Amino acid sequence: MFLVTGATGTVGRAVIDRLLAADHPVRAITRRPESAGLPASVEVVCADLADPGSLSPALAGVRGVFAATAGTEIPTHDANLAAAAVAAGVERLVKLSSGRAGDEAATDPIPAWHRAGERAVRASGIGWTMVRPMGFMSNALHWAHSVRETGTVRAPFGQGRIAVVDPADIAAVAVAALTEPGHAGEIYTVTGPQPLSPREQTETLAEILGRPLRFEEISPERARAELLRVGVEPAMAAAIMALRATALESFTSVVHPTVEHVTGRSPRTFREWAFDHRNSFTAV
Ligand SMILES: NC(=O)c1ccc[n+]([C@@H]2O[C@H](COP(=O)([O-])OP(=O)(O)OC[C@H]3O[C@@H](n4cnc5c(N)ncnc54)[C@H](OP(=O)(O)O)[C@@H]3O)[C@@H](O)[C@H]2O)c1
Repeated sequence: MFLVTGATGTVGRAVIDRLLAADHPVRAITRRPESAGLPASVEVVCADLADPGSLSPALAGVRGVFAATAGTEIPTHDANLAAAAVAAGVERLVKLSSGRAGDEAATDPIPAWHRAGERAVRASGIGWTMVRPMGFMSNALHWAHSVRETGTVRAPFGQGRIAVVDPADIAAVAVAALTEPGHAGEIYTVTGPQPLSPREQTETLAEILGRPLRFEEISPERARAELLRVGVEPAMAAAIMALRATALESFTSVVHPTVEHVTGRSPRTFREWAFDHRNSFTAV
């Protein structure tokens, strides 16, 4: 049995699909089982990473855990999960971390939270693998509404290049680490095949959609105000903006061969991702 946390999120859901496709039994935790929308074969358990007592029942009989935690409480949630997993006799834990956790120069909150979470996982004594992705290709879905409504992508740091990765490839690396031997103690920095700026991603989207799109660079202040407008907490909005600014640094544009090394096939391109998700950018 494999336990997936962050099961209703981008990567956790992709991990579930891959585990099921390989006929592995899957249990998932969520705070809202009634609206989780997970496949019928998944055993869904109501649990909260902030509540260690809720995690123990979810871990009974589990062989490996995919640990996706999110937000300002990443260090505590990782520590709670790792401790409960060790107590339940779980063999492996694969942590979804951040590519920039490996950047010594990164002192902004999100890589710092992940480094603290990684430390808690290591200190627990469980067999671990760290999966450190760079920016997700799926972050482009934040542009879907304005692409549909006005044919415009609005983003800060328009020239900043990130070696964006398809969440399906992150899941493929994570599932290999969970289910195959030889991944214990490995730190996998996971990227796509090419560094791309928001402006370049907009050009690819326009080609896929077969219509012109406009790229409008907005100020970091406006981008932060937009996050607050859609309900992101101020501390999280500040952390996200600090992270976005680092797209201007070279660290995020480095391509790593991890997907091919771990899965034996090339990482998916942004063009492939955009084609698969073209309906999200198309008005119905
Ligand atoms: N986006 C990027 O470009 C990027 C790049 C590198 C790393 N990352 C890292 O990826 C992680 C986010 O992954 P994601 O995008 O796949 O997730 P996501 O789509 O943001 O979803 C968040 C998930 O966390 C679960 N969750 C949140 N608080 C919880 C709690 N207290 N107890 C139990 N579950 C909780 C939610 O489950 P329920 O709501 O169902 O309970 C949901 O499934 C973050 O750590 C982020 O730093 C992101």
